[in-house]
Amino acid sequence: MTAPADRTRSSEELIRAEEPVLAQNYHPLPVVVARAEGAWVEDVEGRRYLDMLAGYSALNFGHRHPALIEAAHRQLDRLTLTSRAFHNDRLASFAERLAALTGQDMVLPMNTGAEAVESGIKVARKWAYEVKGVPDGRATIVVAADNFHGRTTTIVGFSTDETARSGFGPFTPGFRVVPYNDLAALRAAVDDTTAAVLIEPIQGEAGVVVPDDGYLTGVRELTHRANCLFVADEIQSGLGRTGRTLAVEHESVVPDLVLLGKALGGGIVPVSAVVGRREVLGVLRPGEHGSTFGGNPLAAAVGTAVVELLRTGEFQRRATELGSVLREGLTALLGKGVVGFRARGLWAGVDVDPALGTGREVSERLMREGILVKDTHGSTIRLAPPLTVTEDELRQALGTLEKVLAA
Ligand SMILES: Cc1ncc(COP(=O)(O)O)c(C=O)c1O
Repeated sequence: MTAPADRTRSSEELIRAEEPVLAQNYHPLPVVVARAEGAWVEDVEGRRYLDMLAGYSALNFGHRHPALIEAAHRQLDRLTLTSRAFHNDRLASFAERLAALTGQDMVLPMNTGAEAVESGIKVARKWAYEVKGVPDGRATIVVAADNFHGRTTTIVGFSTDETARSGFGPFTPGFRVVPYNDLAALRAAVDDTTAAVLIEPIQGEAGVVVPDDGYLTGVRELTHRANCLFVADEIQSGLGRTGRTLAVEHESVVPDLVLLGKALGGGIVPVSAVVGRREVLGVLRPGEHGSTFGGNPLAAAVGTAVVELLRTGEFQRRATELGSVLREGLTALLGKGVVGFRARGLWAGVDVDPALGTGREVSERLMREGILVKDTHGSTIRLAPPLTVTEDELRQALGTLEKVLAA
């Protein structure tokens, strides 16, 4: 690690200083990170922690991956922002490479995940009116219960999590919620007004909920038959996390629109995108949608470097191989404090015996032992280390989990 940490205030002082001046919309673990490299972060006092969350998959390539930092530095020295009022010399190659990586035709660049989701919703509605012929104002989008797609008012409007929704209405109409992993319910909800089915191929925030084999294929067949779009939110599941570039590839499914974010920004800048077929993304015309920062040269340079890393297949391979280690390690903990888990690639939702504490309490105990994870609901914790983590580091984290659960 290079630059020294700012040690003018202790971790405790910094946490206390946030309270009166920072909106309290988060409840972070009491660790103040000052520096990071690879799978490791260091706090203000110089204590080191193994990062087993990786920014909810935004840090798939670890902290400060040299190729990504170099791409960012090079771009910072040349050109950072143009807005889309002008072209910039980095955007074409970013779009070409991202489309090729995902097997799609076109790219709509945005910044955050929620913006990609909002953009996908707008595109799907426009497609429904212009191509499918849904009467104006009647388009519906079918989503899954326990979804997590972001925090805008439209998106929380179709969340089933009361904490996310309550107090933020009125909400955008036009969404139907069905149980996840239930093709019959989906079939019943789809009709002539349906613009799209929008789902996560694996539900991350719900606790890494992996649907049954055949579900994604079923969604694809059903949406084809119903002449509506399949929009896959791969913001957390995509870009190597599950052992494939996209999680839908586990069933060889090609959605009409794929939403990407998080890791696309290499852990450096927010970069998101909607990628999709020309017949669908082609419905947008000048002035109908946009973002000042979407597709900016710095984002495009970093995004291009991310695509280059993924093109080698190395990270997808690592996620598969280390995923087996993770799965074996968690299987060994069944009955030793772990009551169940779901995993795919280097990503797991681990249900801890509630008698041993909440997910939050287990996360705090792990933190004190130098391992950073995040709880989801109840007694579930989520493991999503950088795909650069070594086998030894992964085993160290599993060993610490065993120790914490035994204590
Ligand atoms: C599947 C999914 N979609 C969308 C989002 C929202 O992304 P952002 O926080 O960048 O808006 C998230 C964030 O966790 C996510 O997991």
